[in-house]
Amino acid sequence: MTAVGIDAVEVWTGNLKLDLAETFADEKGKDPAYFTKGLGLRASSLPDSYEDIVTMGANASKKLMDRKGLEPDDIGRIDVATESSFDNSKPISTYIAGCLEQVYEGDFHHANKGERKFACIAGTQSIDDAYNWIRAGRNRGRAALVVATDTALYARDDSGEATQGAGAVAMLIDEDPDLVELSTEQGYGSADETDFLKPNQQFPSVDGKRSVQVYLARMREALEDYESVAGDVRLEDFIYAPFHTPYPGMVRKAAALAYRHVTRDTPVEEELAESIGRQPRRESFDDDGEYEEAVREYMDALKETEQYQDWYAATVDPTLTISRDVGNWYTGSVHLARVSALKTALESDRDVAGESMLVASYGSGAQAEIHGEVVQDGWADEIAALDVDEQIAERYDLSWAEYEQVHDRHNHEMDSELEEFTTPEAEFVFDGWGRMGERKYTYVE
Ligand code: HMG
Repeated sequence: MTAVGIDAVEVWTGNLKLDLAETFADEKGKDPAYFTKGLGLRASSLPDSYEDIVTMGANASKKLMDRKGLEPDDIGRIDVATESSFDNSKPISTYIAGCLEQVYEGDFHHANKGERKFACIAGTQSIDDAYNWIRAGRNRGRAALVVATDTALYARDDSGEATQGAGAVAMLIDEDPDLVELSTEQGYGSADETDFLKPNQQFPSVDGKRSVQVYLARMREALEDYESVAGDVRLEDFIYAPFHTPYPGMVRKAAALAYRHVTRDTPVEEELAESIGRQPRRESFDDDGEYEEAVREYMDALKETEQYQDWYAATVDPTLTISRDVGNWYTGSVHLARVSALKTALESDRDVAGESMLVASYGSGAQAEIHGEVVQDGWADEIAALDVDEQIAERYDLSWAEYEQVHDRHNHEMDSELEEFTTPEAEFVFDGWGRMGERKYTYVE
């Protein structure tokens, strides 16, 4: 069977930066270590006044199309994943196609366009849609453009305010991909949850503490479901495990649970038993409370072991590098984690072609999905072409007062004007409103 997967990826960060350890911590009188160590974040990316989900998505897409030498005719499908849409009918993919049609000769009139919504997991679901479309033989030799784009803003003073972010990841899904092949096997963990939602409102209603528990519960279900089709997951099978990363501290918790799960009844558990005992089993305890306490103690001890720390440093930590500097990009987050891992491999001169990754996506509301990916021969050239470090370094560093203005500027209910902090260059910009209330965009050379 021909391989189907991600052929190319491009990233576009919002052009502004809020420094959490300095600006946010100073303003709130918080210990900077709460951000850098507790949450694992140094900074958030935020959109300048002329940026939004369309400009970021179109800019990432244009970079991708230019680099791969693509014309609109090469694309048979444009799916945008977002939970920051400003229109309940017209999909963001039509706006992005409109932007791209300003700069390419052809058009996307014969491309199927849509918009996927399921909190942060919609980007992965859009990749699924593209994969299925290609596998079904309906693509007529064309590739699919999947764009995950979000302005992840919380209401001011919400517990999530320190985890904000803004950016887009554009991915080309195709046969014989250069970057990764996707596994046919997938596992799901899905339940009707009310941990994080936006009932006809821009900023989320969040039960932060509960959202952490729901993330972990759905991930465990997804892993069990994945193993039911793909067989038991073993530590040595995967070089990296990119997770949905609302903030790196969340992944730290998820990784420890995953490690406990996959090492149960294996020689690794036996080896660890010499120093920290065997994993608690429910049947050995009289009630849930005692069992849960024993699990907590085991987890604390596990995280201190050399075996666990070595595995985490090699398999999970490399997936978090970009996230630390940009915050939560919602639908783009897990796809940034994949880029981050492969970028680390490239920077350490490691050839990972033929190796596998276990990719764990999540969206509140709630659903987790886990699948495998095999790194392809062209991966190093693809990753070397990215300029994500430069983009991150070039962001404008906001003062607290400026941050407040930027938040107001992007608050749909405030409609406030704001001079831009950066000068757009070779990018699409928001350019005012049309007669039907639509947003208009221009390409600035
Ligand atoms: P909080 O209550 O501020 O945090 O909010 P905390 O008190 O739990 O502290 C976080 C960590 O910092 C803790 O470590 C503290 O010990 C540590 P942990 O127990 O996690 O290992 N800490 C410190 N460390 C060093 N020095 C210090 C210090 N003080 C404390 N001085 C919360 C955290 C997640 C609730 C908040 O950020 C929030 O509400 N975030 C938004 C929701 C969220 O991100 N949830 C994550 C799961 S849901 C998800 O991922 C989906 C999502 O992306 C949306 C979607 O799908 O669309 C959000």
